[in-house]
Amino acid sequence: ERCLTASTIVAKRQLSDGIVEFTVRAPVVADAAKAGQFVRVLMSDGGELIPLTLADWDTKAGTICLVIQGMGTTSILMNKMEVGESFAGIAGPLGLPSHVERYSDDSTVVFTAGGLGLPPVYPIAREHLELGNHVTLIAGFRSENLMFWVGEGERVTDLKAKYGDQLEVVYATNDGTLGYKGFVTGPLEEMLEANKAGKGRKLAEIVTIGPPFMMRAVSDLSKPYGVRCVASLNSIMVDATGMCGACMVPVEIEGKPVRKHACIDGPELDSHIIDWDKFLPRFNLFKTQEKQSMDKRGL
Ligand code: FES
Repeated sequence: ERCLTASTIVAKRQLSDGIVEFTVRAPVVADAAKAGQFVRVLMSDGGELIPLTLADWDTKAGTICLVIQGMGTTSILMNKMEVGESFAGIAGPLGLPSHVERYSDDSTVVFTAGGLGLPPVYPIAREHLELGNHVTLIAGFRSENLMFWVGEGERVTDLKAKYGDQLEVVYATNDGTLGYKGFVTGPLEEMLEANKAGKGRKLAEIVTIGPPFMMRAVSDLSKPYGVRCVASLNSIMVDATGMCGACMVPVEIEGKPVRKHACIDGPELDSHIIDWDKFLPRFNLFKTQEKQSMDKRGL
């Protein structure tokens, strides 16, 4: 761990209901950060350390960007913190960086980001673009009013302005209020089918980050087409130390069941070797305890 120091919040804004973006002073992390990595954040002494994926960083300013959805006791309390207050400690960057390589000019790297999956997708997509790859970003939200980072002067729009045709952005909303009506799997299936028919760009790989059921759907959809699919499993992690065992991912390698840990072997793993039937229930492992903790604090 490269640092565990108090980190002051220098900017805060509400992105949508329950989702807050923090800019936090953490120069050591910003200096070493790589796409796909995460940090462990300690809100206050004696509190719980929670893993959060780096959504962005600014080496010059010495800051990192964290996007937090208030879902449990700690994340709800964190989202109440204000500019000038400090997290007791931030450790990182942790986790294996994303695998990024230069693909052929006639291919594209497809990202399917669901809701809060967009912040962790952003730096990985940017790195592919910097390397010269074509990128297709399919960003899904439940509804237009829950979308973020897509308006004027926002990160996705800025990326599109900078990279032009090198980046294709497709929006999907469950209720059809903006873009494609339905899930991210709709536009992805169209791409896979076109690809199979020899049309459009070759799909170099798919990266999926978002709700567990969405990642499974993307994985299941892409498997018969033989396109490599990587899922980022940040949301399963609890302490991110390799010791609690909460992030265990059952996978199958050469017909044999193997256990991987998202915080040690990931957070990115080949989605096609994951035993999703066994894995998905693990996301609800601590629901009862979390509810008890929230009830106790009246959250
Ligand atoms: Fe605890 Fe990985 S999050 S072992």
